[in-house]
Amino acid sequence: MTRIRLASVGDIPDETGLRVDTDGYRIALFRVEGDIYGIADRCSHEEASLAEGDLFDDEIECPKHGSEFNVRTGAVLNLPATEPVARYDVVVEGDDVYLILEEE
Ligand code: FES
Repeated sequence: MTRIRLASVGDIPDETGLRVDTDGYRIALFRVEGDIYGIADRCSHEEASLAEGDLFDDEIECPKHGSEFNVRTGAVLNLPATEPVARYDVVVEGDDVYLILEEE
């Protein structure tokens, strides 16, 4: 198992996301009711950063065409996007947010 530090909890805004580029991963972090979630920061419809969308509860709205994704699961909730985005395992230790990668 590999851990990669992504951010401090305090870096993650309440009403949008935080984009983190690290080790070839482009991840959007979100804070929902005090918990932190990570999904791929690229809309499955076209090129757009989901971290730049508006967060409503656990749903992020793509800033380009308005598809919404569940930040807990990566599931797509409405058109025009039809495919989910990847969900990443993240953990919080103290004020630090880590990406957890299983060894292949
Ligand atoms: S780029 Fe996200 S809905 Fe079109």
